[in-house]
Amino acid sequence: MRTFLFLFAALLSGILPGVQAVEPVVVNTGSLSMVFTVAEDGKVVFNYFGDKIEDTGSFAGRKYKEQPDNGTGYAPVLYPAYGGRYFLHPALKLTHMDGVQTTELIYVNHTSKLLDSNREEIVIHMKDPLYPVFVDVIFTTFRKENVITQSVEITHKEKKGIVVEQIASGYLPLHADDYYLTHFHGTWAAEMQLVEEKLTAGSKRVESRKGVRATQSANPSFLVSLNGPAQEDTGEVYGGSLAWSGNYLLSFEKDECGILHVVTGMNDFASAYHLAVGKVLKTPEMVWTYSSSGQGQISRNLHDWSRKYALAHGDQLLPVVLNSWEGAYFNFDEQTITDMIDAAAGFGVELFVLDDGWFGSKYPRNSDNAGLGDWHENRTKLPRGIDYLASYAVNKGLQFGIWIEPEMVNPDSELAKKHPEWIVKSGKRDIIPMRTQWILDLSNPAVQDFVVNVFDGVMALSPHISYIKWDANRHVDNFGSDYLSSSEQTHFWIEYVKGLYKVYDRIRAKHPDVLIQLCSSGGGRLDFGALTYHDEVWPSDNTNSLDRVFIQYGTNLFFPAMATAAHVSTSPNHQTGMLAPLKFRFDVAMSGRLGMELQPKDLTPEELPFAKQAVENYKRIRPLVQLGDLFRLKSPYHENGWASHMYVAKDQKEAVFFAYSLKYHGRTAFFETKLKGLDPAKKYRIQELNRMGWPGFYGDGQVFTGEYLMKAGISLTIGNSFDSTVLLLTEE
Ligand code: GLA
Repeated sequence: MRTFLFLFAALLSGILPGVQAVEPVVVNTGSLSMVFTVAEDGKVVFNYFGDKIEDTGSFAGRKYKEQPDNGTGYAPVLYPAYGGRYFLHPALKLTHMDGVQTTELIYVNHTSKLLDSNREEIVIHMKDPLYPVFVDVIFTTFRKENVITQSVEITHKEKKGIVVEQIASGYLPLHADDYYLTHFHGTWAAEMQLVEEKLTAGSKRVESRKGVRATQSANPSFLVSLNGPAQEDTGEVYGGSLAWSGNYLLSFEKDECGILHVVTGMNDFASAYHLAVGKVLKTPEMVWTYSSSGQGQISRNLHDWSRKYALAHGDQLLPVVLNSWEGAYFNFDEQTITDMIDAAAGFGVELFVLDDGWFGSKYPRNSDNAGLGDWHENRTKLPRGIDYLASYAVNKGLQFGIWIEPEMVNPDSELAKKHPEWIVKSGKRDIIPMRTQWILDLSNPAVQDFVVNVFDGVMALSPHISYIKWDANRHVDNFGSDYLSSSEQTHFWIEYVKGLYKVYDRIRAKHPDVLIQLCSSGGGRLDFGALTYHDEVWPSDNTNSLDRVFIQYGTNLFFPAMATAAHVSTSPNHQTGMLAPLKFRFDVAMSGRLGMELQPKDLTPEELPFAKQAVENYKRIRPLVQLGDLFRLKSPYHENGWASHMYVAKDQKEAVFFAYSLKYHGRTAFFETKLKGLDPAKKYRIQELNRMGWPGFYGDGQVFTGEYLMKAGISLTIGNSFDSTVLLLTEE
């Protein structure tokens, strides 16, 4: 009877699983392949993801181990729904209109189209044989960058609607002897702290339920290394990152067969989604890459891909910044700012950013207690307004940028009094403040309009504004929306992020050229979904150089250096109290998008010329740092207490090398490393930059072959705490 119903349903929908044998479905980039086959029962088998396989014909006959309990082959599928033999954390779980809890997905067909010379879209269409539920798995391949993105769309024709309780973006089954997971944890001022662990039987979850500022304590980016911890230049490593700025869940489950099931996507926490007939639910994109030669290649793939596809202007060099925050906080008037601009112009800074504190009149923003939401100039503080300051900067040869936090509102603001219904809240419960602020409900189109208008209004304050720092300084507690109906409350997490992206789409359509920095109390919103609308990220409020070595290391495993704002701040550092030499602070910041965040008046007459020279040196190496290939030489996480990496121009004609001593190594130990990424046949002249006192490198000014530098290597005299060396290599 069941078979009959199945065949009947299959006939009705025009497909007969197992009747049509198809060739393997292959998802290829320049060097990678994913291979799927359709089994006799119509299931789409996930066969392979790894180095490119030119002839995939052999996959057709692939046999999987038979299960002793029911004699069926155990083959991981493309997209496991809860139902059939799947008992692990599913990629898809839904409740059908009649209350049935299971779903099975069988192949319908697949389509592919070339998007351009570098990108192809391959869609595998599946359906449930018993219910009119349709699932498309959509791959976009990036040939040159060796990146594959994956998303999923679900629709149905069940009259009363279905409830989607879990819908992942990506699923990856792996089979090896051991799996090592690299993931990130953190907190405010300590984001992107790397941890690597061997996965044991059972499951490991990395997730966020914070809704907003979702990446402050963990990040939806990870590496899985097979058969040993991830190495820089050897071994099989998978890299994944979810392009989503809200709740996410990465699940790593090692099953009884030793297979690792990686399921990645939006978090299913309190997120049951009622999907009406005819509506589509689309997941965010999962970004995948793979390397059989270590994690270094994973980073270079993702950096190349980001510059082209995940940054607003990833082909443009970013300017050197002076940001007012740590130099002035809320305590400034017009002259404080014009003095900072004068000083910034004096040492070669190219963009001045006026941070928090410039707005609010009835509730002036003179601390973080009031004013958020009231985006008009504080004329008491700045009598001639923003245009005066922006014009002043432009006259001094600087661009001008300004800070906003448009998703948030202080209870003490005109906005909070006017629109209490716009505030995220859980029914009649008190709204819990954090940094004395509440969150605006971006699932509400009226709030989306408001935020777009804030952006437009701020841009209209002066024609000279060319940069916006977009901040978001709290996460969601006690979620709920006055706008969504009672049955839609669990849509909040998804609709907030979709609302945010709608806002960004409108803003970018209208302001395509403005540079936008992504900030959320530092790195609280660091994901490829948000980054696409931005030019760079403020990875942490911690500007302490030593901590930055670690934060930037973790950030740059996935996100490129050009998008990593790194600011030289004062010593002792405001967040940690640590003292560090100006040279070390510059040498660390120059390995990202260099900026400064201090009161220039605090620099001593001896420090000023160094700062000026360092900014000039940065401009010299900027194309290498921002557009070059990253090669890591020494990890700060290694107990040796050194960190080192280099950026190499695509044509290998130039490179810049950074080395840091993170602790006192004693008088006898010294730094030694082999360089990477150079052309062995080329000769390079090495010049030490930012030199202060003793030379760091014995060969300053000399010429070496690429072969020598990569095989014999170099040694440095750095060994004290916070010693550092920067070397520029140029082809002779
Ligand atoms: C957040 C940001 C800081 C600064 C302040 C201003 O903490 O991360 O860089 O802009 O807000 O209030």
